Parts: sequence; structure tokens; C-alpha cells
Amino acid sequence: MPLVLVLLDITPMMTVLDGVIMELQDCALPLLKEVIATDKEAVAFKDLDVAILVGSMPRKEGMERKELLKANVKIFKSQGAALDKYAKKTVKVVVVGNPANTNCLTASKSAPSIPKENFSCLTRLDHNRAKSQIALRLGVTANDVKNVIIWGNHSSTQYPDVTHAKVKVQGKEVGVYEAVKDDSWLKGDFITVVQQRGASVIKARKLSSAMSAAKAICDHVRDIWFGTPEGEFVSMGVISDGNSYGIPEELLYSFPVVIKDKTWKFVEGLPINDFSREKMDLTAKELMEEKETAVEFISSA
Ligand SMILES: NC(=O)c1ccc[n+]([C@@H]2O[C@H](COP(=O)([O-])OP(=O)(O)OC[C@H]3O[C@@H](n4cnc5c(N)ncnc54)[C@H](O)[C@@H]3O)[C@@H](O)[C@H]2O)c1
Repeated sequence: MPLVLVLLDITPMMTVLDGVIMELQDCALPLLKEVIATDKEAVAFKDLDVAILVGSMPRKEGMERKELLKANVKIFKSQGAALDKYAKKTVKVVVVGNPANTNCLTASKSAPSIPKENFSCLTRLDHNRAKSQIALRLGVTANDVKNVIIWGNHSSTQYPDVTHAKVKVQGKEVGVYEAVKDDSWLKGDFITVVQQRGASVIKARKLSSAMSAAKAICDHVRDIWFGTPEGEFVSMGVISDGNSYGIPEELLYSFPVVIKDKTWKFVEGLPINDFSREKMDLTAKELMEEKETAVEFISSA
């Protein structure tokens, strides 16, 4: 299916977008029919099927978390309202810009005519990081690892959980805990490496993740559009309403999901041990605090 790509940025960035368009053309992408660049939300969101919201306000030196949230509420309230007004009601909205979960909640709350389930935020990069760390440890490829879970916020409180994950070693599928045989690593350094990976990339590259983030967005959107493979689940930040894991309602929280016919469903019935419970609740608490601040700003923004 040919694609039309619409790029929205702020006015001072329009000349930069010209360069992005040139690069897109030079990729000779087989499915790319047209690229439209604009600084107007009315043009950008018109009849959209998929919206990938990447642009956000980065944290500046000395900026408080609340200030950052406030600046982003402004952006995502405006983009949510524009989606409500101009996009198709079936639009799938993927929020990437940080704080991604709460920005996604803000956009959804600002687009009441679009189902809440159509909004998701990107935790696939964290999911891919977790897969890769296990693969590296066992000397297999990331493709041999499945069903890792990222619970909660796309922040350092996220909980990368491999209790239910499987890995193919020498042609045989086994549990990750069984294969790794090092519980203290799985419950310690593995978790912190994944939680801190974004910061580690910035430290090394002096720039934030770009290639891996783009790949994660592709994985996320492809799975929304074409579904998840049989027997596999993926992590996505989605509205928590109706979950069976005791996570408070109305939070944009990352869960394990399966997707079919462009509709996601929670993976149900995974047993949760005390170690996981504590970490899942901690990241939920952070999201509740972010939500409280965002809701306060939504009414005043
Ligand atoms: N969820 C994830 O896994 C994940 C991964 C990578 C990056 N991120 C986040 O994604 C965001 C973008 O990262 P980046 O490295 O591409 O940043 P970037 O600064 O290179 O690009 C952001 C772009 O957004 C534009 N922008 C700012 N305000 C806008 C607005 N109101 N409307 C439209 N465009 C606007 C900027 O002009 C800029 O071109 C950041 O918040 C980053 O932290 C999230």
C-alpha cells in the first residue's frame, strides 16, 4: 500500500525539513508516494490514518520535571485537539515524545471523539533493549528471544520483566531464567542496564538514541497494522482501563499486549510474583503523579 508521509514541525524548522525530504527521496523507498511538509496542524492532521507524535519539548538544563510536563501538555493538548478535529476517527496515534506516557494521555484526553484504545506510547525501544541484553548474554540473536515485558512508564522506573520470556537455545525453547541461570543478574544489573540505556547512549554518543528509536517505532506501527505473530506478545503503553494486573484505571501504562485486526488486547493471566508486584506498583505511582500534574495543566493550558 503506497504511503503519503506528512511531516509537521515548528515554523523555524521548515528549511531543515527540506533536508529531511531530500533524504527521504534519496532513500528511494518502494512504498513512499509523496512527502508533505507543513507547520500547520490543520494540514498535518487532515484525514490521518496513523499519527506518530515525536516532536516535544526537550528538558533544558535546570528545568524542573513539572516545567517540562507543563510545556509538553501545551503541545500534546493542541495536537490532541487537532487530531479530534481533522483526523479519521479510526486514526492510530503513537506518542514518542517524552514524557511519552503522560503526553499520550494528554493527547487522548484532548481528543474525546477518538477511542482511547487508539492511543499508545512507545515502550518498544525498551522492549527491544531487554530482548537484546538477554540475547547478548546467551550468545543468540534478538530474534531468538520473545515475550519480554516492559511494565509502566518509559522512564527509569520502568520494569523490564523476563519472568515469562522464552529464548531459543540450540533449537529448543526454554524460559529465560532457566537459560541464563543467574537470578541475581536478571534481578539486578539486567534491569538497571535497560532502565538506564537511554542515558548511556546519550553519554556515549552525545546525542540521544535515533536509529534504535526509529526501528522501535517501525516495529510498533507494523504490529498495530499487521498484528503480532502467533504466540508472541509485545510491550506498548496503553490505557489501563480494565486490566487484570491491579494497575489503577486511567493510566497510560506499558503492558504486554497482543494485536489482531488493528486492535490490541491485554495479555491476561500472567502470574505476578512479589518482586514484580513491587516494581509494577512503583512505576504506576510515578505515572499517577505525572498524570495529576498533567491534568492540572490541561485545564489551564
Ligand atoms: N519513547 C521512546 O522510546 C523515545 C525514544 C527516542 C526519543 N524519544 C523522545 O522523542 C522526542 C524527540 O526526540 P528526537 O531525538 O527526535 O528530538 P529532536 O529534538 O531531534 O526532534 C524533535 C523535533 O520536534 C520538533 N518540535 C518541537 N515542538 C514541536 C511542535 N509543537 N510541533 C511539531 N514539532 C515540534 C522540533 O522542532 C524537532 O525538529 C524526545 O522527547 C525524545 O526524548 C522517545
